[in-house]
Amino acid sequence: MDNLKSSRVVIIGTGFVGSSYAYALLNQGVTDEMVLIDLNKEKAEGDAMDLNHGLPFSSPMKIWAGTYSDCKDADIVVITAGANQAPGETRLDLVEKNTAIFNKIVSEVMNSGFNGIFLVATNPVDILTYATWKFSGLPKERVIGSGTILDTARFRFLLGEYFDVDSRNVHAYIMGEHGDTELPIWSHADIGGRPILRYVEDEQSKITKEGLDEIFVNVRDAAYHIIERKGATYYGIAMGLVRLTRAILRNENSILTVSALLEGQYDLDDIYIGVPAIVNRNGVREVVELDLNAEEKEKLQHSASVLKKAMEPVIN
Ligand code: 2OP
Repeated sequence: MDNLKSSRVVIIGTGFVGSSYAYALLNQGVTDEMVLIDLNKEKAEGDAMDLNHGLPFSSPMKIWAGTYSDCKDADIVVITAGANQAPGETRLDLVEKNTAIFNKIVSEVMNSGFNGIFLVATNPVDILTYATWKFSGLPKERVIGSGTILDTARFRFLLGEYFDVDSRNVHAYIMGEHGDTELPIWSHADIGGRPILRYVEDEQSKITKEGLDEIFVNVRDAAYHIIERKGATYYGIAMGLVRLTRAILRNENSILTVSALLEGQYDLDDIYIGVPAIVNRNGVREVVELDLNAEEKEKLQHSASVLKKAMEPVIN
């Protein structure tokens, strides 16, 4: 890669998620250029103006409201556009509407000559990432969904509170659908190297199986609780997307739970679903295959079957 080339991120959809991501990206100075695209051009323009006024307080970056032709030179196109859940709606309820929107968006992006990495955040994210892969024809490595990156963050946060330790010292994953059938991987969860399940066995400790189960339920249902209160979720996912953007642009080889295409790993095939994966400048370098226990394996299979069923009517 030409070292002098500026890094460019194009954001498609400047609703709550897209604009929060743009703001976080600006604050963390992860890219040289940031382009905002929205159906509502004025909203994108307003956001670009507003964000530019923050530049004297951060570090140099070029920010503008653009068009699909700006995708040609993009390193990453992040799609956050689409309908989001109304209170009571599941992520899967959005599948038809958002697949149709993605069909248009992805072809516009590809028509520009784009040859970078797609990062998909719109729900149902696993299915829309698969759709983006199919619609774009790009190699699987370069089409990535935010998957369970946010669920894993919620899990680490709540476990950190429960154990009263820094959430960055909690190593634990949520895998599967980013949605109602996701699952916690207790068999590989540890606090600074000590397995969490060991605490449950330890009669001296206050950690209980019920306490852990409650944490998982709160992770799984977190979006519903937030949507009930404020109509949408956006700060957490925005920071997760920045984390992913950094792993890509800085070639970090970080392990993050993203939606990646499985081709035999975890006995699954032809599906995008949340798994730990090594992410670098080329996208998904490798899916990390953990030795799941029997219950986890079964739950992951179930999650995948629910996703496959939901995508059948919209993608072939
Ligand atoms: C979230 O989990 C709604 O998918 C979004 O916050």
